[in-house]
Amino acid sequence: MAEYVIDGGRRLNGCIEIQGAKNSALPILAASVLCRGEVILNNCPIISDTDTCIKILRYLGCSVYRDGHTVYVDSRQIYRYDIPAELMREMRSSIVFMGAILGRMKRAEVSLPGGCELGPRPIDLHISSLARMGAEFEENHGIISCSIEKGIHSADINLSFPSVGATENIMLAAVCSDGVVTVTNAAKEPEICDLADFLNKCGARITGAGEGTLYIEGVKTLSGTQHIIIPDRIVTATYMAALSVCGGRLLLKGVSPLQLRGVSNAFEHSGLMTDYDTKGLHVSAQGVPERAGLVRTMPYPGFPTDAQPPVMAMSCFARGTSVFVENVFESRYRHVSELCRMGANIYVQGKVAVVEGSFDMSGATVEAKDLRGGAALVVAGLGASGKTVVKNINYIERGYEAFEENLGNAGADIIKM
Ligand code: EPZ
Repeated sequence: MAEYVIDGGRRLNGCIEIQGAKNSALPILAASVLCRGEVILNNCPIISDTDTCIKILRYLGCSVYRDGHTVYVDSRQIYRYDIPAELMREMRSSIVFMGAILGRMKRAEVSLPGGCELGPRPIDLHISSLARMGAEFEENHGIISCSIEKGIHSADINLSFPSVGATENIMLAAVCSDGVVTVTNAAKEPEICDLADFLNKCGARITGAGEGTLYIEGVKTLSGTQHIIIPDRIVTATYMAALSVCGGRLLLKGVSPLQLRGVSNAFEHSGLMTDYDTKGLHVSAQGVPERAGLVRTMPYPGFPTDAQPPVMAMSCFARGTSVFVENVFESRYRHVSELCRMGANIYVQGKVAVVEGSFDMSGATVEAKDLRGGAALVVAGLGASGKTVVKNINYIERGYEAFEENLGNAGADIIKM
């Protein structure tokens, strides 16, 4: 398994082009299954999760060609409606293909996404919502088969939790139907808006994206289109956390203020200086962050759960104590034990983690256990004195494009072994 070897304590200076958002690219690649014309996606990040999406699309019978950050998808010859378990296992969010395949093929067969790094990943909201729209489900030995023999009909759906994946699956199943589907308490993340923008460019009739109540008026078919994926706000927050512990100045290109809604308070608290102009986000830091204060993860526009691990890593170096409350996932503290190997003082009780900043963070050999937790260990290694080895970086490469190149070009001493 590949690993990063980091010699910490170097300042960062330079410019980083922020990649397209993983959590926008994945549902939009899945949505291309619905399109009866060529889809051209620009700013699609080169990461293992998009590679897995491309494998799934090709398995279904789509022709897919990637040219750098541009992906061309033609789904006109699609002929399969199932996703093999080995492909489902490669990527947690492959469940978002269920709605798209159902919408196009009127049936779908996917395996249950295994419980994993962030605790159980139930899909009860996905299933109950699609069932309200007319889908019929069967589950055998972990395989879910669903069909809409009589088509998707109108439905009013209220989500008990603004689940991102469930909101996406509802959109993808409803967009080509004879009904009108209303979703209240829908997820409002920027990635939901990007998916709705993409679908509307293909001829869909979706309104209310980002506002909490979605209206999806079904249409007969969707055309192809060209679309630029929005920048990745979590990758942006990760580089900001790295700068906070290293000190220096970075220009994060392509970032807009919308990207930082929810995380800006924590970074302002920590003393990171930010300024926007047409080039992007200019950030500067002294290298000894102030404490992040109280960080409670919430659905958008609250503090994003995906930014919790890197911001916690930053807090390990801060003057003072920070308190984290993880309200979105059941167990998203698997990076804590690894940070403690580096000298962090972190106390976890249920959803709450108390981080006492320390000036003695030192390099160690640590293991990534999930995507954002792995990125947090890199942030800590960059700020710690001495050598850090981060193992199992395959987790990190699921969502961070050119991570070590970008950091190395900005002055960090980080190599992939
Ligand atoms: C998406 O996951 C993101 N993944 C996650 O990013 C992100 O952390 C999460 O949304 C929250 O913002 C992608 O977009 C590919 P949810 P998703 O459904 O859709 C519970 C990353 O690091 N829930 O909003 O799986 C669930 O257990 C990843 O990039 C149910 O109970 O998140 C969790 O506690 C990690 N039943 C909470 O809702 C359901 O049917 C949020 O889940 C669905 C979800």
